[in-house]
Amino acid sequence: MGSLSGRRIVLGVTGSIAAYKAAHTVRELVKEGADVRVVMTPGAREFITPLTLGTLSKHPVHSELTEDRDAGTWTDHVELGLWGDVVLVAPATAHTLAGMVEGRGDSLLLTVLLSAKCPVVVAPAMDRDMFTHPATTENLAKLEQRGVHIIEPDSGELASGLSGKGRMAEPERIREELTSWFKERAPLMGFHALITSGPTHEPIDAVRYIGNRSTGRQGAAIALELAQRGMTVDFVSGPSTIPTDHPGIRRINVQTALEMDAAAKEALKNTPPDVIIGAAAVADIRPSEHFEGKTPKSELPESLRFVANPDILAGLNRLAPKGCFKIGFALAHGDGKEAALRKREAKGCDMVVLNSITDKGAGFGHTTNRVDFVHGPERIDSFELKTKEAVAEDLADIVQQTLSPRESTPASHSE
Ligand SMILES: Cc1cc2nc3c(=O)[nH]c(=O)nc-3n(C[C@H](O)[C@H](O)[C@H](O)COP(=O)(O)O)c2cc1C
Repeated sequence: MGSLSGRRIVLGVTGSIAAYKAAHTVRELVKEGADVRVVMTPGAREFITPLTLGTLSKHPVHSELTEDRDAGTWTDHVELGLWGDVVLVAPATAHTLAGMVEGRGDSLLLTVLLSAKCPVVVAPAMDRDMFTHPATTENLAKLEQRGVHIIEPDSGELASGLSGKGRMAEPERIREELTSWFKERAPLMGFHALITSGPTHEPIDAVRYIGNRSTGRQGAAIALELAQRGMTVDFVSGPSTIPTDHPGIRRINVQTALEMDAAAKEALKNTPPDVIIGAAAVADIRPSEHFEGKTPKSELPESLRFVANPDILAGLNRLAPKGCFKIGFALAHGDGKEAALRKREAKGCDMVVLNSITDKGAGFGHTTNRVDFVHGPERIDSFELKTKEAVAEDLADIVQQTLSPRESTPASHSE
C-alpha cells in the first residue's frame, strides 16, 4: 500500500517551462497509490501535451470550461473541485497565483480552485526576478494566510539562464512534502480498518426476517471519523440507511450474518487491517431453513427452528495479522462490565466498547450513546452521554494512540 493510497489529487498544471516536470509528478503520485486528475491551463498545453498527462494519470485531462461548443457541454469544475482531497498546482505560474489571490475565474483551473472545498497546495515556478517581485511575494503571503500550503521553489540555474530561487521543487520533493502534509492533517494515513456495522436480517422467506433494532449509526460515525483521519476503511454493513460517503471508505452491503462473515473475511484477506472494529449487532441465530418467495399466511409454520450463526468477531480476530488492534462492542442490560470482560477474553479482543440499553439515551435508535472502554480488569474508561459522532472521536483517539507510535506503512501490509 503506497503512502498516498486512496488519496484523490487534482493536479493543476500551468504555463511554466517547468510544466514538463508534471509528467514526472503524476508518476510519483500515482506510484504511491494516489488517484490523480489533471487540469491544465491553456498556457500549460504549450509546454506539455494532455495526451502525456492523460496517459500517465489514466484519466482524461481537462483544460477548457466548455467541452463541445456545438453540443453545449462543459467541464464540471464544481464536481472536480469537490472530488479532490487536495488541489495541487505544480507548477504554479505568477499569473495563476495572482488569479487565485484575486479570485478570478478566467481558466478552468481557477474556477476549480474557486469551487474546491478541499485544501490547496502550490509549487511556484518562475524566473528569479518574477519570484522576488513584490507582487509575487505579496500574493504568496496572502495565499499562505488563507491556508494555502506552499512548496518552496529550489535555488539554482533557471531556464532563463539566470541563477537564483524560482525553480520548481523536484517531483520527488513535491511527493514527499505532500505525503507529510497529508500525514499531519490525516494522522492515520497509511493504516487500514475493517469495520462491521448495523444489524443483520435473517430471512424466514423473501419478505419476512428475524432482525434487531440496530440502525448502524454508531458504526457509520466511526468509519467516517477514521476515514477523515486518513485511514482506508472496509465497511461491511448490514441493512442500514445511514450514509458513509467518503473516498476512503469502501462499503460492502450485506443482509445476513453468513454474508457478513464471508464479506468481512474476504476483505481481511485482501487488505490485512491494522484495526478490526466489530460494531455490528449480528443476529445470534437464524431460521434453520427459509422459504423461497412469499409464503402465504395459511402455509406459515407454527414454529420455527433456529441454528446458531457464526461468531464473526471471534473468527476475524483469529485471522487478524499480528499487532492488529481488535475492538468489539457489547450491549448490556444494566451494568455489563463483568460480561464485557468475559466477552473480551472469549472473543480475543484487546478492548470492548460497552453500552447499556438501560442507560437513558444510549444504544439502538438513539443519536447519542454512553459507553465504557473496557481495556481489561485494571482499566475501564467511562464516558458521559454524548453524540455518536463524539463517541466515534473518542474511539478514534484510542486507535490513534495505539497505532501512531508505529510506522505509517505497517508491518502487516508488507507481509
Ligand atoms: C517559454 C516560456 C516560459 C515561461 N515560463 C514561466 C514560468 O516558469 N513561470 C511563470 O510564472 N510564467 C512563465 N511564463 C509566462 C506564462 O506562460 C504566462 O504568464 C501565462 O499567461 C501563464 O498562464 P497560466 O498561468 O494560465 O498558465 C513563460 C512563458 C514562456 C513563453
